[in-house]
Amino acid sequence: MFGLSLIILAGLCNVLVNANNVKRQSSCPVNVADSERRDCFKWVNASPSKCEERGCVWCEASSTNYPFCFYNDKTCPSSIADNAKVDCHPEPNGNKASCNAKGCVWCESATQGVPWCFIDQEVSQGGARCPVDIKESERIDCHPDAGANEANCIARGCYWCQSSTPNVPWCFAPKSLGYTMNGAPISTAKGYRVNLKRRQYPSWFGLEIDDVNLDVEFQTESRLRLKFTDATASRFEVPSNIPSPPSAAPNTLYDVQFNDTPAFNVKVTRKSTGVTIFDSSIGGLKLSDQFMSIGTYLPCQSLYGFGEHEHPSFKHDMNWKTYGMYARDQAPAGSNNLYGVHPFYTCVESDYNANAVLFLNANAQDVTLMPDPALYYKTIGGILDIYIFLGPTLENTVQQYTEAVGRPVMPPYWSLGFQLSRWGYNSIANMQTVINRMRQYNIPHDVQYGDIDYMDRRLDFTYDRVNYAGLPQYVTQLKQEGTKFIIILDPGISTGEPAGTYQPYELGNTMGVWIKDTDNTTDILGEVWPDDPVVFPDFTKQVTEDWWIQLCVDFKNVIDYDGLWIDMNEVANFQHGSFNGCPDSPMNNPPYLPRVSDNLYQKTLCPSHNSYLGSQYNVHSLYGWSQVPPTHKAAITATGQRSLVLTRSSFPGAGSQAVHWLGDNHSLWTNLHYSIIGMMEFNLFGFPYVGADICGFNGDTTASMCQRWMQLGAFYTFSRNHNARDRMDQDPGYFGAEVARVSRESLEIRYTLLPYLYTLFHRANLLGSTVIRPLVHEYTSDSNTHNIDRQFLWGPAFMITPVLDEGATSVTAYFPDSRWYDYYTGAEVSSEHRKGYTTLNAPMDYIPLHIRGGYILPTQEPANSTTFSRNNDLGLIVALDDFEEATGDFFWDDGDAIDTYSNLEYIEVSYSAIPGILTGVVVFNGYPSAGLLVYNNTIRILGLNYVDILDVRVNNQPHSLFSFNPTTKVLEISMANLFLNDDFQITWTPI
Ligand code: NOJ
Repeated sequence: MFGLSLIILAGLCNVLVNANNVKRQSSCPVNVADSERRDCFKWVNASPSKCEERGCVWCEASSTNYPFCFYNDKTCPSSIADNAKVDCHPEPNGNKASCNAKGCVWCESATQGVPWCFIDQEVSQGGARCPVDIKESERIDCHPDAGANEANCIARGCYWCQSSTPNVPWCFAPKSLGYTMNGAPISTAKGYRVNLKRRQYPSWFGLEIDDVNLDVEFQTESRLRLKFTDATASRFEVPSNIPSPPSAAPNTLYDVQFNDTPAFNVKVTRKSTGVTIFDSSIGGLKLSDQFMSIGTYLPCQSLYGFGEHEHPSFKHDMNWKTYGMYARDQAPAGSNNLYGVHPFYTCVESDYNANAVLFLNANAQDVTLMPDPALYYKTIGGILDIYIFLGPTLENTVQQYTEAVGRPVMPPYWSLGFQLSRWGYNSIANMQTVINRMRQYNIPHDVQYGDIDYMDRRLDFTYDRVNYAGLPQYVTQLKQEGTKFIIILDPGISTGEPAGTYQPYELGNTMGVWIKDTDNTTDILGEVWPDDPVVFPDFTKQVTEDWWIQLCVDFKNVIDYDGLWIDMNEVANFQHGSFNGCPDSPMNNPPYLPRVSDNLYQKTLCPSHNSYLGSQYNVHSLYGWSQVPPTHKAAITATGQRSLVLTRSSFPGAGSQAVHWLGDNHSLWTNLHYSIIGMMEFNLFGFPYVGADICGFNGDTTASMCQRWMQLGAFYTFSRNHNARDRMDQDPGYFGAEVARVSRESLEIRYTLLPYLYTLFHRANLLGSTVIRPLVHEYTSDSNTHNIDRQFLWGPAFMITPVLDEGATSVTAYFPDSRWYDYYTGAEVSSEHRKGYTTLNAPMDYIPLHIRGGYILPTQEPANSTTFSRNNDLGLIVALDDFEEATGDFFWDDGDAIDTYSNLEYIEVSYSAIPGILTGVVVFNGYPSAGLLVYNNTIRILGLNYVDILDVRVNNQPHSLFSFNPTTKVLEISMANLFLNDDFQITWTPI
C-alpha cells in the first residue's frame, strides 16, 4: 500500500459545539434519518429558537456526530433571500437528488428566475452567522483580486464576514469548495491516481476544470510529488529535469492520506512523528484555465524562502504577507517581484524537523502567508505541481531540493577571488585608472568586468574601438598579471546595423532564432540598450543554442574573456510589450493578476508573444533559465575550462550551471542587511555562489558605508564591487589609504580561508549543501537562531558578524551552543556568552569573525590574486570542541578544469584532532601537483586549556618552531614542512 491510508472523515456539524447545552427531545417533528441531516447551523450557540429563526428543524440526534439543527427539505430554509440564492445547478435536468449530491439546497420556488438548487451558505455583516469552523487566521481569500464586496463575494459562493484584524480577508471560501473524489484512489506504478470532480460552486475567473487527476508519485524516500492536471486536456508544464522514477519508492519518510470532507483534500504526514507537513483541508483547491490555487496548513514555526524579492527578514512574517513571483527587470524595492522566480520554501516543524516544498510552475503567481500558520498559493496557468521534501534537517531539505532540480555548479577557483566592475567607466583609460588604484594599494583583484560600455554602441559581440581602443591587448595583459576578465552580454540584438555588417543579427535571421509576435510569424521588436530596435533570441529553441555558441566562441578570439555575465534576461524590454503595446486579450490582461508590479507586460514582452516552447504567458519567467544552458555550454566551449556564467534572471535548476547576484541594489545602509537575507535565500534555492553589489549599485555611497560594505562583501561567496553609470566612483582604492587598507585586510582574510571556502563549494556541488549558511541550519533546535539574519556562517564553522548600521562601532552577536574562537586572536569567547547575545566591539576597521569549536579549516597564505595565492603555503586552524576534538577536510584540484571530481583529478585530505594529536590523512589523490603544496604556514590550535606546552612533534620528530600563548591558549606551529599529498601526525604535550 506504499504507506498510504485512505481516510474519509465525517463532516463537522453544529452538535459538536453545543451538544452539552441541550437535552434530547422525545420525538422529532420531521422524520429525517440522522445520517441524512444537512447541517443548518454551523456556528456556536445553536439553540432551538435560533434554529427555528433559520427556518430549520431542531431535533436532537442519536449522537453528537449528527446535526441537531438541520434543513427540512420539504419546507426549505427561509433565511436565504431569493435574490441571494446562487445557482448551484446551471446544467439542465436538476432534481433534488442531483442537487443534494452537489452539497446544495433544493427548494422549489414559484418566482420566475429564482434557482431551485442553490449554494448552502450564509452571509452576514456582523459575524454572528459567520462559520465558526473557519478561524480568521485560516481564511482562504475568495476574492484575491481587487474590489471585493459583499455582493461579488456571495456571487462566488463565499462567505462575507468583516474582521477588525488588518489584512484578514472578508471574503473567504467555504471549506466545502473544491473537488470530490470520483471513486477510490487507483494504485499506479509510481504511487496513486485520484480522479476528482469539481463541486459546482460558481466560477471565480472562468473556464473551470471540472475533471482533474491528482497523480501522487512516491519519487524517493524523502521526495513526494503531488501533480494536479486537467484530466481531459493537456496544459503547459515546466520542462523539468526532476527525475520521475518509474516505480514508487519502497520506503518513505511520509504517509499520504486522501479525504473527501469537507471537500477533497490531501494530507502528507511525517511517519516518524505523525506531524502533518502538507494539508490542503484548509481549502482553496481550484483549477481553472487562468486561476489555479491550493491552500495548506503548515506545521512551521519558522518558514523561509520564496523569491525573488527583497525580504525584510530571513524568517518570514506570516501575517498575511503576499509575494508575487514573475521575472521582472526591477531594482529591489520592498516586496516587489524581482528578476527570478523561486516558488520554494523551507519550514521548521515544532519538534525541529524540517521539510521543504516546491511549487513547480512558471506562470505569474503569488503566495499569501497566513498566521494560522498556513499559506495560499495561486498561479494563473500551467498545472499545480507540488514537490515535498522531508528533510529531516534543513540542510537535508536543500540537499534533496538540489538533488531534484540540479546540484549547484562548481565555480572555478579564481571566481572565489575579489571582483571589480562598474557600468560606465566609459573608456579604457578610466578602467585602467581604477585598476591601477587596486594595484597601488595591493588590493586583491581576481576578476575585472566589462559592462555594456565596453561595447560599440552597446551592441553585443563588439567592442568600442575608440573609447576602448586596445581592450583585447589590455585583457591579455590583465590575465598575465593574474586578473581574469568577464564580459556582459544582453539578449537584445540590434536590428539597425547596415546590411552585411552585424553578424549576430544576420546569422540569427538566417537561422530563425527570434521570439515571435502574437501572430507567431513576425519577429517581435523591442527596445533595450542599443540605439535601434532589438529582436530577442528564443533560447527555448535548439538552433538558438547553436547560434549563441558560435557567436560566443568567435568573440573569444576578439576578447579573451574568462566568463560570461548575462544580464537583462527577464527578458527586459523598455517598450511595454512592444512598440504597439499588447492586444487586449485574456492572456495579456488575465482575469486574475497575481500580486506583481504593474501588469504582465510592463518592461517585458506581451504574454501573447510566442517562443518555441510556448506563449510568453507560460514561459516568460523561464527566459533566463533557458539562456543559462547555452551560455554555460558556450563559456566552457570557448574557454575550454570551467568558466563562470553570472545570470540575473533565474528559475529552479539554473543554479546547476550559473551563479547569481542580487541585482540593482542601492547604496543605502539597509541594503547591507538585505544582502545577507538575499544570499541566504539563494543558498536555499541552489545558488550558493551569490552576492550583492558591494557598496551598492544605485545611488552614491559614502566612504564609511563602502568601508563597512567591503568588510561584509569580503565574505559574500560572490565578492564583487559594482556600480551604476553616472555614480561616484566606489572602487576600494577610490577613498584613499584607510578604506583601501581595511578592504585589503578583509580580503586577505577571505583569501586565507579560500581553501576552506572552496571545499565548501565542492560539498555544495556534490551534496547540495549550503555555503552561506544561516545559523538556523546548524542550530535548528535553538529557536534563538531562527530569525538571525544579521550574522551568517560559511559552512558549519566560520561565523561572520558584520556591522550593518551607520556609525556603529559595536555589534550584537549571538553565540550558539558551541565553543567559539575569535578569528584574529584565537582566544575563546567566554563561556558566559554561550547560547547568548553579547555586544562585540567593532571599530571601523574591524569585522568580528569567529571559528566554531570542533572544526578544522584549511588555510593558505593570501596574495593579491588566486593565481598567486594558490601556490602559497598551506596552514590549518584547528578549533577544539568541549572534548578537545575537531575534524575537517580539504578538497583541492587545479581550480579550472571541468569535472575534476568525476575525472578523479583532485586530492582530498581529512583532518582530525583528539587531545594531543592532530592527524591528516590523504583520502584520495588524483591531482599530480598536490606535492607542490606545503603546510608551512601557521598551524593554529585553539582552545588548549593548558598552562604551557612542553613539546611538539611533527611525524614523531621534535619540532622547535612553535609558540604557546598562555593567555589566548593558542598553540602556533610554523614551518611544519609537510606536503599536501602526505599523511601526517602532529602531537603536543602540555606541561
Ligand atoms: C542592469 C544590471 O543589473 C546592472 O548590473 C548593469 O550594470 C546594467 N544593467 C548595465 O549593463
